[in-house]
Amino acid sequence: MTKPPVGSNRTGRKLGQRVKKGKLKASSRRWLERHINDPYVQRAKLEGYRARAAFKLLEIDEKHQILKGARRIIDLGAAPGSWSQIAANVTRSTDEDIRVAAIDFLEMAPLPGVTILQLDFLDPDAPRQLKEAIGGRPDVVLSDMASPTTGHQKTDHLRTMHLCEVAAYFAVEVLAEGGHFLAKTFQGGTERELLTMLKQNFRQVIHVKPGASRQESVEMFLLAKHFKGRSATPSDDPAEDGVEAEVELEPASEA
Ligand SMILES: C[S@@+](CC[C@H](N)C(=O)[O-])C[C@H]1O[C@@H](n2cnc3c(N)ncnc32)[C@H](O)[C@@H]1O
Repeated sequence: MTKPPVGSNRTGRKLGQRVKKGKLKASSRRWLERHINDPYVQRAKLEGYRARAAFKLLEIDEKHQILKGARRIIDLGAAPGSWSQIAANVTRSTDEDIRVAAIDFLEMAPLPGVTILQLDFLDPDAPRQLKEAIGGRPDVVLSDMASPTTGHQKTDHLRTMHLCEVAAYFAVEVLAEGGHFLAKTFQGGTERELLTMLKQNFRQVIHVKPGASRQESVEMFLLAKHFKGRSATPSDDPAEDGVEAEVELEPASEA
């Protein structure tokens, strides 16, 4: 990846430079200005990540150490691929010994050490294909899946929450004991039933909002740590049933 000069971007514009009026709708211009001036976008380019989302995962990992020692990782909703880049790096995955499987219905440019499935995760065959792709139980299941926006906020939230829920049940089905599950969700959006299921299957369940997640966005991440294993049953620890997940907010940090 060609690195742009510090303080500017690929378009040659300086940080803070305004986008010319006239050619774009006001909402598109606001988005573009925010994107151009976003320090995480600049930093992603400089550090060779495909998306600013990389820093959400890196910040969560810095605090919660979910990637350390992971041998296999599954990345759901992976395009354009910054989380998969991190996953391949952590697992030292190579094309000869693949340890990362990524899925997205959008096309994603190839990445060394990553098997990419261009498929809807909700396709009934997706779980089987993902399991086969890494040839062993993953230590981490990541999901940054967000439903394509329809313009109707409530519909978008419900669809993304559904993806989070399906990803959670998939994680419980495939994770190695002691493994971790991280998924995108929304503030106040996680269903009590889902939290209860996660509490029954993981030793710790929390909501986190990394600094790289825009403060004005209702996006949050659900983190379930230390999978108890498939022999654990709900009745193992009834005191945990129905307990709310703690919420942990990270201060926004400058990139
Ligand atoms: C925020 S982006 C992921 C960014 C990614 N973590 C990265 O670091 O580059 C969310 C992705 O989820 C994908 N997605 C949404 N619903 C999906 C589904 N049902 N199956 C597969 N991918 C899905 C979208 O196509 C989109 O590429």
